[in-house]
Amino acid sequence: MHSNLIGRLRGAVGDAGLILDAPGQATYLTDWPRKWSGTTPVVVRPASTDEVAAVMRICHETRTPVVPQGGNTGMTGAGIPDKQGGQIVLSLNRMNRILDVDVVSNTMTVEAGVILQQVQQAAADADRFFPLSLGAEGSCTIGGNLATNAGGIAVLRYGNTRDLTLGVEVVLPDGRVWDGLRALRKDNSGYDLRDLFIGSEGTLGIITRAVVKLFPAQHGRATAWVGVPSHGDAVQLLSMMQSICGERIIAFEMMSEFGLSVILRHVADTQRPLGDVHPYYVLVEIADAQRETPPVLLEEALAKALESGLAHDAVIAVNDRQRQAMWKIREGVSQAQLREGNPLKHDIALPIAQIAPFIDAADALVAAHFPQLPVLNFGHIGDGNLHYNVLLPHDLCDDERERLTREVNLKIHDLAIAYRGSISAEHGVGLLRRDELRRYKSAVETDLMLAIKRALDPDQLMNPGKVL
Ligand code: FAD
Ligand code: MLT
Ligand code: ZN
Repeated sequence: MHSNLIGRLRGAVGDAGLILDAPGQATYLTDWPRKWSGTTPVVVRPASTDEVAAVMRICHETRTPVVPQGGNTGMTGAGIPDKQGGQIVLSLNRMNRILDVDVVSNTMTVEAGVILQQVQQAAADADRFFPLSLGAEGSCTIGGNLATNAGGIAVLRYGNTRDLTLGVEVVLPDGRVWDGLRALRKDNSGYDLRDLFIGSEGTLGIITRAVVKLFPAQHGRATAWVGVPSHGDAVQLLSMMQSICGERIIAFEMMSEFGLSVILRHVADTQRPLGDVHPYYVLVEIADAQRETPPVLLEEALAKALESGLAHDAVIAVNDRQRQAMWKIREGVSQAQLREGNPLKHDIALPIAQIAPFIDAADALVAAHFPQLPVLNFGHIGDGNLHYNVLLPHDLCDDERERLTREVNLKIHDLAIAYRGSISAEHGVGLLRRDELRRYKSAVETDLMLAIKRALDPDQLMNPGKVL
């Protein structure tokens, strides 16, 4: 570490912007699923773009590697420094101001450290809707959402974070600031630099501010929990409901009975929404600007589903409490699976028509090669994103855990690619998928990614060891 690094960083951000003590640093050094931990000489918390730029200039001059961090809810270890102790953590959590809400342009300008739930609330306060929604929304930041191109539950209707973003401001690895904070819906004036930074997992620059899109408020909502005979019927149900409800379906989540049973076992105050057990369940939500429309459409679609046999049973939430209870089950899955076992998480993207054949093939593979391992299968099937997770027991020795992790991942990911899918739909690559990425990206794609990295970060200062 450079001798006067801490002193120079203090000059840039003041004492309030530095965390030097171990207890204060602890929450920045271990990730949410507690898979990775690291060490750092200092957590730096700048309070403005100018301060971020000053920090990056110092790091550039001293060749100090930087790990950007938002809410530290990421699933791939991408926001955690290594164990060598030479990487600083640059947290955006003091840059947490909502700068502008524009109901004519339907945009909001925010600093990167604003918590996602606060963005949603500010939109609602202005009678608008910001649709990005995920289980970590009470603690993840919009900067982290941008850096991971987060997906969540409303992608089938509104797209992922990339689709919700108009402009970004980025501090480059050498401390220069790129002001791409444009609120334009059309801009073909050259290469799209914005999209380079979105999803780059902190490896190209620090996102400091963003302009995001707002949508008309959805005053009407109707939510149902549906028991279906199979995963194939769940996919057919999506197609059938879309022909009745059109774009008003804003969430269409699937979960296996095993998934539900794990949640009921580990998450307090959750109850089975339907009396009987079904092989799979769908949580579907319809929304519209008009209050009256969603319940009518949902009832019509579910009546047809029950009549045709695509659904065996369904319950519609009659009030917000029941709706929340359904979502509590869905959002409890991340925590519940950690308690049940050691989940090998698979964040597969597939063409929607390939979801059912993929699950059939994956179930057969697991049954043939790993019959002792339960599969916890759930996901955002409305947008083709399946979390086909395989649970290892907690008490495996290191060697056995590593062997099974390698073998299971290889089988599931090879299969996903055979179905022309992706090994990361929404969580990103980080550390978790870095080595596997080489197997699945062509030489051409890898070369292009490396060329971009070299062009923007020639000294390899930004989040070294992640993604590439
Ligand atoms: P962090 O975890 O702090 O960082 C994530 C990555 O972004 C790291 O590479 C970091 O270096 C980089 N980064 C952070 N901020 C910046 C910045 N300002 N500039 C540059 N780089 C930056 N994801 C989904 O997509 N869909 C889901 O449904 C979903 N559900 C989740 C549910 C739970 C319970 C949890 C814990 C996580 C879930 N996630 C989900 C993971 C998701 O990626 C994150 O929750 C979120 O997008 C990360 O935001 P964060 O602020 O916590 O970022
Ligand atoms: C989800 O869909 O709940 C998230 O992606 C989190 C997870 O996979 O645990
Ligand atoms: Zn997910």
